[in-house]
Amino acid sequence: MSISTVVVERLIREAGSIAMSHFNNLANLEVNKKSSRDLVTEADVAVEAYLKKVLGKEYPKYGFWGEESGQSDNQSSRWIVDPIDGTHSFAKGQYFWSISVALEIDRELVFGAVYAPALDDYYHAEKGKGAFKNGRPVKVSNERNLADSMIATGFACLRSYLEENNLARFNRIAEVTTGQRRFGSAAMDLCLVADGQVDAYWEQELNLYDVAAGAVIVEEAGGTVTDFDGRKGIFPKQILATNGLLLEQLLPLM
Ligand code: IPD
Ligand code: CA
Ligand code: CA
Repeated sequence: MSISTVVVERLIREAGSIAMSHFNNLANLEVNKKSSRDLVTEADVAVEAYLKKVLGKEYPKYGFWGEESGQSDNQSSRWIVDPIDGTHSFAKGQYFWSISVALEIDRELVFGAVYAPALDDYYHAEKGKGAFKNGRPVKVSNERNLADSMIATGFACLRSYLEENNLARFNRIAEVTTGQRRFGSAAMDLCLVADGQVDAYWEQELNLYDVAAGAVIVEEAGGTVTDFDGRKGIFPKQILATNGLLLEQLLPLM
């Protein structure tokens, strides 16, 4: 793969400094609405513009797809970026939000990085080379009993119009698990599966930029990424990430 993970980490951490400058000045943060319940702030726009500029300069042969600015010409090999995943949390001054950067070469995801600047946690993975948090290897949990497990999910409010709104699924799974969490950043939810902090995560109606980087990190940490039927792959409209040991117990509940 023709990138330097050290250079990319430096650029993402620089983008994190931009995000933190706004995070530390929320009283003056410009917040707009993309739809009735979907926010975008000047921090989202500034972080994405920075990453588009510096990644384009460092790696001109790759295209760029960012949540806020859309797609550039080259979409066969491209950076896939969510500049701030968890904008609602960011705007409220909560610490659980992240910058998500994935690299897809010839339509294969080969690299993912998720950085949580307020926590100063940097997760990354190159395909076939393992997953890391702040430079140390991470692995999924070894929990094999669903009744003892802790799982995470999300309820994107802007999709509350959907008849299938994840609430019935949440109730089914909450009844048979020990702990349930809704952290507020899909990219970070996936990293917590990779890090063994939760045993599984699922969500629906996401976009590729929400999950591309985190999915690479989960798989490189020894986990599984499937749709709700157990079909292997990254399906943002139905993503289920597990430690592998709980997949068969979860599928009937999805
Ligand atoms: C959101 C977060 C949230 C998920 C939403 C996403 P955004 O991303 O990932 O956890 O539940 O569906 O839209 O909009 O803050 O980039
Ligand atoms: Ca997102
Ligand atoms: Ca976002």
